[in-house]
Amino acid sequence: MLELKNVSKRYANGSDVVDVLQDISLRIEPRQTVSVVGPSGSGKSTLLNLIGGLDRPDEGSILLDGENLAALPDDALAAVRNRKIGFVFQLHHLLPQCTTLENVLLPTLARRCTAEQRKAFEHRAEILLEKVGLTDKRDRFPGQLSGGQRQRVALVRALICRPGLVLADEPTGSLDAEAAEQIADLLIALNQTEGATLIVVTHALPLAQRMQRRFRLDHRKLTKVD
Ligand SMILES: Nc1ncnc2c1ncn2[C@@H]1O[C@H](COP(=O)(O)OP(=O)(O)OP(=O)(O)O)[C@@H](O)[C@H]1O
Ligand SMILES: [Mg+2]
Repeated sequence: MLELKNVSKRYANGSDVVDVLQDISLRIEPRQTVSVVGPSGSGKSTLLNLIGGLDRPDEGSILLDGENLAALPDDALAAVRNRKIGFVFQLHHLLPQCTTLENVLLPTLARRCTAEQRKAFEHRAEILLEKVGLTDKRDRFPGQLSGGQRQRVALVRALICRPGLVLADEPTGSLDAEAAEQIADLLIALNQTEGATLIVVTHALPLAQRMQRRFRLDHRKLTKVD
């Protein structure tokens, strides 16, 4: 279960202070699917970064399974991220010197695994790469892939460890309508078969509308969309 309580976040740009999020509270039950839409610059990535433990709020708490991420020391926070959270970044952040398959398997390297578990991860990587149509790109480097292909690699990397919470920042931003629908199908299928909670930030209304709970972020506040 994920709960945000009175979360505020501001950034200082020189002498300028920008309030990005103000007093946001939200409770998300396990297995729920959630979308957040809103204008560019409204704080969607900021919100997702806070939930994913990549940044800390100025005020408020972010409880994941009862643990306040905002108060955890850095190393404990990194451990929670690796164990529980799959993050699909808006900018894909693939390692240029690693192939598709190596990039996808990166999160598994932080874990102590038996040879058997490692094989199981490799098998899952192959299956997920096939689902996103990238089987023939498994040995390519990011520099040899299109933007949309890189985006799909980043998605598979986020899903490889079966995270209980998947956070996706514009996961279909560089994709055509057909590929975008394929990604939405995959996310929803994983939500149903593996029970992952899913939070998607997007400008794409067809994707947003497929989530059970829909929110809009604007003027520092989160409101429900009907
Ligand atoms: N590290 C930072 N330092 C200072 N200001 C920042 C920082 N990160 C974001 N901002 C500012 O916070 C606001 C929200 O940014 P954010 O990236 O969360 O928006 P967004 O809703 O994700 O936009 P987009 O739809 O374009 O991705 C913007 O005004 C941005 O300039
Ligand atoms: Mg963003």
